[in-house]
Amino acid sequence: MTQKIYLRSFGCQMNDYDSSRILDLMREEGYEAVEAPDDADLAVVVTCSIREKAQEKTFSDLGRLREMKKAKPDMLIAVGGCVASQEGRKILSRAPWVDVVFGPQTLHRLPALIAERRKTGRAQVDISFPEIEKFDHLPAPCAHGATAFVSVMEGCSKYCSYCVVPYTRGEEISRPLVDVLVECAHLAEQGVKELTLLGQNVNAYRGRGPNGTTVDFALLLEFVSDIPGIERIRYTTSHPKEFSDRLIEAYGYLPKLANHVHLPVQSGSDRILAAMKRGYTHDWYLDRVARLRAVRPDISIATDFIVGFPGETEEDFAETMRLIDEVGFDASFSFVYSKRAGTPAASLPDDTPQSVKLARLQHLQSVIEANATRLSEAMLGRTERCLVFGEARKGGGMLAARTDNNRVVNFAGDASLIGRMADIRITDVFPHTLGGELVCAGGE
Ligand code: 5AD
Ligand code: SF4
Repeated sequence: MTQKIYLRSFGCQMNDYDSSRILDLMREEGYEAVEAPDDADLAVVVTCSIREKAQEKTFSDLGRLREMKKAKPDMLIAVGGCVASQEGRKILSRAPWVDVVFGPQTLHRLPALIAERRKTGRAQVDISFPEIEKFDHLPAPCAHGATAFVSVMEGCSKYCSYCVVPYTRGEEISRPLVDVLVECAHLAEQGVKELTLLGQNVNAYRGRGPNGTTVDFALLLEFVSDIPGIERIRYTTSHPKEFSDRLIEAYGYLPKLANHVHLPVQSGSDRILAAMKRGYTHDWYLDRVARLRAVRPDISIATDFIVGFPGETEEDFAETMRLIDEVGFDASFSFVYSKRAGTPAASLPDDTPQSVKLARLQHLQSVIEANATRLSEAMLGRTERCLVFGEARKGGGMLAARTDNNRVVNFAGDASLIGRMADIRITDVFPHTLGGELVCAGGE
């Protein structure tokens, strides 16, 4: 009989990617994915620990699953992702109804861990980091639509002073070039037109190439760009320190590289950047942006900020606001600093009141929002090459497409356009989307 799997994923796109691979894997094991946990035989929670709030969500979710398990004692509960990786066996003391704990690098072992749990009746924990073997044990990914994610490297070796990722996901490790290209080509054959290359520091990619050579991220992009059928390439997320001249030059000769980049800066204050151990300064970041804009003048730049890092003064924050003016960011993921146990920053004195931090965050977000609106308004009347990715959320027979600079545009069109490129004229600017009209549909 087919078994049912319910999966919930929190956090970043790496987790989303891992989650879709878990579903691919479990499908091969005879499981069918269900939308609600009530009738699931197996519930999987893929957790995030980047900020305290995310971590707490894990345990409230596990509490809900416990209630369901009371009604259905055969249901197994598996916990993966970064909380699992960090807490390991400790999860079992806080949530003894959990059956399996697995890490980001051991998700391919989930079927074996479940089998062992069933056989022995004992909870199973495996959060080891067996290099990058997981990719050798996962089925080839199935495309769902015209966009797809491909993981090219995992982990992080930067050890920013506030961040748990190097501890939860391990050191940077890149997949071999051939493996990445085979996966991309396989997806392209299934109709994928837009690829997003994934990695915690994707531009730190150093993969094994032909004849023992090492391939950097710029060269990887060249290879991916040559795959027939691929029209557009995005990647996330990148580190300013690894934003090499070679990568910047690639924007000049690889037209498939999207006109949008996510380049987390975290702060505009040199003092705070040093305390964060980011390895660059305000001016260095500006220099990267200037060089990039020399090659791609209208590229849209999104970023991440941490507001209220321990010791951040009004002057430090003013430096961040100055950077925002200088760069003209198009979007940001910005949060108040969250103290994470086990990271070096956790022991720094922090006497800024939370209310001050929140006020700074609000101010920062409103300025970036205004920037984004201004940039959207500048698009009015322009015809944009877009990838139509589905029906519009608000329905009404409208379709949704993504512009090169990463905006969603809703327009009236026939459903047969889904999965194709189309030229769309921008006619309206709304708070988080654009409105447009179809000018001309692209090829198949
Ligand atoms: N507190 C707040 N934000 C954090 N991030 C990472 N660690 C923390 C933390 N301890 C943010 C950074 C990073 C994004 C993924 O999450 O901005 O770029
Ligand atoms: Fe965390 Fe810094 Fe690594 Fe990003 S680069 S994952 S913020 S340690």
